[in-house]
Amino acid sequence: MAKQRTVFVCSECGNETLNWAGKCPSCGAWNTLKEIAVDSKAKNKNARTSVAESSSSKPQRLSEISSSQDVRFSTGIDELNRVLGGGAVVGSLVLIGGAPGIGKSTILLQLCGEIGTSKKVLYVSGEESEHQLKMRAKRIGVENGEIFVLAETNMERILRSIDEISPDIVIVDSIQTVYLDHVESTPGSISQVRECTMALMRKTKANTFTTFIVGHVNKDGNIAGPKILEHMVDCVLYFEGEQNTTFRILRSAKNRYGSTNEIGVFEMNDRGLQCVDNPSEVLISGRPSNSPGTCVVGVMEGSRPILAEIQALVTPSGYNAAIRRANGIDYNRVTMLLAVLEKRGGLQVTSCDTYVNVVGGLFLDEPAADLATVLAIASSYKDQPLGDHFAALGEIGLSGEIRSIQNVNQRIAEIARLGFKECLIPFNSKLDIPEDKINNIDIIRVKNIREALKVCFK
Ligand SMILES: Nc1ncnc2c1ncn2[C@@H]1O[C@H](COP(=O)(O)OP(=O)(O)O)[C@@H](O)[C@H]1O
Ligand SMILES: [Mg+2]
Repeated sequence: MAKQRTVFVCSECGNETLNWAGKCPSCGAWNTLKEIAVDSKAKNKNARTSVAESSSSKPQRLSEISSSQDVRFSTGIDELNRVLGGGAVVGSLVLIGGAPGIGKSTILLQLCGEIGTSKKVLYVSGEESEHQLKMRAKRIGVENGEIFVLAETNMERILRSIDEISPDIVIVDSIQTVYLDHVESTPGSISQVRECTMALMRKTKANTFTTFIVGHVNKDGNIAGPKILEHMVDCVLYFEGEQNTTFRILRSAKNRYGSTNEIGVFEMNDRGLQCVDNPSEVLISGRPSNSPGTCVVGVMEGSRPILAEIQALVTPSGYNAAIRRANGIDYNRVTMLLAVLEKRGGLQVTSCDTYVNVVGGLFLDEPAADLATVLAIASSYKDQPLGDHFAALGEIGLSGEIRSIQNVNQRIAEIARLGFKECLIPFNSKLDIPEDKINNIDIIRVKNIREALKVCFK
């Protein structure tokens, strides 16, 4: 019997080498090389085919390629359209990742329900039987339309079904359960995931339908499988959310056809995932009344402003080294803000234990949240509430100055819309409408951290 040929594949970048090494020679990651068996015939066959089998391999003039086709279509789910950059693109591959039970299968089945009335959909499930899919579909109210389901894990048979029914949308749930016969490793292994995605990509580009792939995440929260999987597809979306809340955030990590800043907000109930039209209201609901250590800020998530609540707890430290924890906000930024608050604001906070938390599973990576963070910390330190109708915007510099931020008008409009009465903004902000004309909200301009503290804590 011929000796089985093996290669070593890096789980980070997908690079192949013939010999094992502790460090990947391509990306430099440690302990990522895994030995896999290869079928040399099949491998060559795959490697030689072009991305789109049917397209001619002759160069074409860009100006002569037809652009008349309507390449984008609505998925029927507003928040999903937003994250995809205004709808799904024909001939693209979308990878959806997220923790188990977060709602990946649910949203894709809902998508079938919305699109099935006008387009043909094939839902391939390697995890549930047809009967289980039917039960779920019934629960979330997906009954009619051109929706075909297939409980199958063999990739060759899946590709054949695609040829038979020529759908407009193909859903593969999940990429870790499907396998190709000629790849000699178990489903979910690096080579299976890579080869199956490659096969789907070729089919998608050649037949110009749209494919949604579900990808499981590993314990670090990344999609399990080689990093190269993310390079192959056109769009990578991640579902985020806390186990104990019903809210889910869909975030784009990569998008060849749109911005990666937009987020989609959903709420899970027994009818599936419902779009949340008013995320600010949801994110700041349930705030304790008149409580110290909390401040509201307006952050930009893509093109829309969303209100977020920053909470802080400052307690005397029982140890020589103070404890600091940051959840939903950059730890190093919090450390810097504590130092600025001590040196420029005169509060002895660096020797205290400090915990900062952003409510609702948002991650704030904008400097515009600095002032609200500092005020939440100061409010907890002094044990004085900022008031229920108070919000703050502004970046803080190392000299304690409050620097102007982008989109200040949009943020103020959102803050005012939700009934806030007072808003601190950077001194130099340019407003579209004069301050005295802004209804029902006092705009207070501050130059530096001392001034801000004076305004808030009399
Ligand atoms: N009968 C039900 N009533 C309400 N919610 C349900 C019901 N069954 C499942 N769910 C919700 O749907 C979620 C499962 O979502 P699912 O789409 O299967 O996740 P994923 O595919 O990401 O693993 C569960 O976490 C649960 O919250
Ligand atoms: Mg699922």
